[in-house]
Amino acid sequence: TRPSLVFEETIAAINARLPPNSPLSSPQVGIICGSGLGGLASSMREVVKIGYEDLAGFAKSTVQGHAGALAFGFIGKENVPAVAMLGRLHFYEGHSLQDVTYPVRVMVRLGIKQIIITNAAGALNPAIEAGSIVVVRDHLALPSLTSSNPLLGPLTASSNPSSPFPRFLPLSSAYSTALQRLAHLASHDLSSANSSSPRVVLEEGTYAWVSGPTYETPAEGRFLRAAGADVVGMSTVPEVVVAKEEGVEVLVLSLVTNAVVIPDGYRSIREEVEAELAGKKVQMQEMPSVSHDEVLEMGKAKADVMRQLVELIVDRISLE
Ligand code: 6GU
Repeated sequence: TRPSLVFEETIAAINARLPPNSPLSSPQVGIICGSGLGGLASSMREVVKIGYEDLAGFAKSTVQGHAGALAFGFIGKENVPAVAMLGRLHFYEGHSLQDVTYPVRVMVRLGIKQIIITNAAGALNPAIEAGSIVVVRDHLALPSLTSSNPLLGPLTASSNPSSPFPRFLPLSSAYSTALQRLAHLASHDLSSANSSSPRVVLEEGTYAWVSGPTYETPAEGRFLRAAGADVVGMSTVPEVVVAKEEGVEVLVLSLVTNAVVIPDGYRSIREEVEAELAGKKVQMQEMPSVSHDEVLEMGKAKADVMRQLVELIVDRISLE
């Protein structure tokens, strides 16, 4: 990753933009806003936004629908100082995994103790409907298993010299059970706060990380489902692994934007051709496919629920 000099430069650039002696200089909670979920910043107070282009060491975000800025502000009823990434860097944009995870290391050096990571994902589990929010409790990191692991390489200097990084980081409890509990409690808070709106029931599941930028073929969807994944997406896991290495508590919320279509089998083109040659009329059927617009639409539709949920989780974190 980066030499400590670059961290110092990034942090100096941040402090130059924040009000002097503000608690925002040492935020308690970090938040990463996924596709279409950047509205999270609208509920922060005394917001200071800093574009990634103004931050030494940050690569530039290139996907449409993903702004690139750090937003500092107070969040929730308890006025918790927080820092949010409005738009993340993705591996599929061509960034190295060191670049993708650099902002997490910066947030840790600013002092965050918890990180809440949101993303958009496709559902592989047929019991999970589009529009649901999934509390992630485990992951399958396909790229990490096949040599794109964010921790490959010499050990980075730890942000906490009294607890240097282990060479072989265990990930058996990557997802904080304490924070998962707070997420479920917060969903109950949200339902009781808006008695008129429908209950927000959070799902639980395993997230499969794929590099993208292609969506899954039917065979790949079937493969990931058979391997035990409930949702699939192109982000989050590198940030989780680095946050875990840095000793930060991790919560991941996936907004399910669409169902991954996993047909039981294939139609036989050969049989269709034979029927056609035999003079029968055949109905050709096309496979349905996902679109980025659909993903952004659902992000917009659910942004408010996600925002309120994150706020209530932060309230509960500060009251623990
Ligand atoms: Cl269907 N697949 C992947 N890989 N990422 C997604 C998605 C699907 N839907 C939203 N993000």
